[in-house]
Amino acid sequence: MENVMEKLTALCKRRGFVFPSSDIYGGINACWDYGPMGVRLKNNIKTAWMNSMTRLREDVVPLDAAILMHPRVWEASGHVGAFTDPLVDCRHCKARYRADEMGFDPAAPDAQCPKCGMKGTFTEPRMFNLMFKTFMGPVEDAASVVYLRPETAQGIYVNFDNVRVSMRKKLPFGIAQIGKAFRNEITPGNFIFRTREFEQMEMQFFIKPGENEKWFEYWKEQRMQWLLGLGVRPESLRFHDHGPGELAHYARAATDIQFHFGFGSDPWHELEGIHDRGGYDLGRHQEFSGKKLEYFDDETKEHYLPHIIETSSGCDRTLLMTLVDGYREEEIKGEKRVFLGLHPRIAPITAAVFPLVKKDGMPEIAQRICAELKQRFEVFYDEGGSIGRRYARMDEVGTPFGITVDGQTLLDESVTIRMRDTLAQERCAADKLGERLAELIEQA
Ligand code: GAP
Repeated sequence: MENVMEKLTALCKRRGFVFPSSDIYGGINACWDYGPMGVRLKNNIKTAWMNSMTRLREDVVPLDAAILMHPRVWEASGHVGAFTDPLVDCRHCKARYRADEMGFDPAAPDAQCPKCGMKGTFTEPRMFNLMFKTFMGPVEDAASVVYLRPETAQGIYVNFDNVRVSMRKKLPFGIAQIGKAFRNEITPGNFIFRTREFEQMEMQFFIKPGENEKWFEYWKEQRMQWLLGLGVRPESLRFHDHGPGELAHYARAATDIQFHFGFGSDPWHELEGIHDRGGYDLGRHQEFSGKKLEYFDDETKEHYLPHIIETSSGCDRTLLMTLVDGYREEEIKGEKRVFLGLHPRIAPITAAVFPLVKKDGMPEIAQRICAELKQRFEVFYDEGGSIGRRYARMDEVGTPFGITVDGQTLLDESVTIRMRDTLAQERCAADKLGERLAELIEQA
């Protein structure tokens, strides 16, 4: 499986999904740039998430809060005090590790450095805060310190009342947000799995205290169904409930949805989290800001501080999941075929249009079809190289449908649709292509 990650990293660069950041300077550790295919795939994932949260529901609304926030926010949230990982160094080779992820006690006399093999060379663990600091304004002093947000959630909590009042929302209701987050991770890696700059898709659902368990279970199920709706193999997803020792400082209960990413000694890794945060967040912001955040319940005539159920998902990790899950190799008549089995709803390109040959008016017909389909779908026109090579290029970026204009088209205005996964072909009238593609996407 490590092998699949290596193959995917190479494929992503070759086909324009993900490039190492600052590539011509030799890259910068664990930072990545999304290329044309990666941007489309990521946008499709984000749109699917936002639509499922806000367009298809009445009780969740969107928000886009600033990355830079008042520094007191991070004191209230607990990040200044508690957003730390234990860091140890090997005194011999200077390799750096997270003590809680080493799988052994680095303080033991025979603890061996995985990099240089020396024993008993680890420093004492020291707590390292993961927030990136910068300065606001021209003076670089303690009073001007601001942080790059390590999660998008806090932007939602501080806007709870703004959204509630402006949208006339009653409990229970949620606020959904997609945006960048930054963490100075000690051990980033595994391609885009753990990076220092990443995107989150977070939704905070505000509820009446006491209804926590009901909504926690509800959102667990909703999130699992959404992931399955992306076409991910069900056997590659599972829940992992946090035990008392695993819970974050804000959580009363937490479950990770894990995906079988395949790397490391344990191939299952966190994809997203669902957390019962109780009254922690609004309570802390009420205390630190001095602004009342209580809710008045019209029905029961009670005032109370809402509790929160959070669903917190990594956009980059979700994208990596679709690549790992979709990566396929097969052999057909002695030839290797590589393709990405991405769900048609999120594939970067929905259909590619090819003239079989560059003559007899086929390119003109194909370009016309392409222009028409572009009104509804992401479509790509390609007339370069043999038809086999053109199919292969589209297979590797996960394009589910290949439309070919051929000799028959000149006679009856029909084209072939080639299905990426089965290689089955069907003929379709050129003027019915839009409807047929919509139908195929619906059925996928
Ligand atoms: N607001 C709660 C929160 O941020 P988290 O478990 O720390 O919870 C949520 O993060 C999700 O964000 C993770 O499940 C993961 O998908 C993503 N994530 C966290 N750190 C990441 C990193 N360094 N690189 C990529 N994705 C990350």
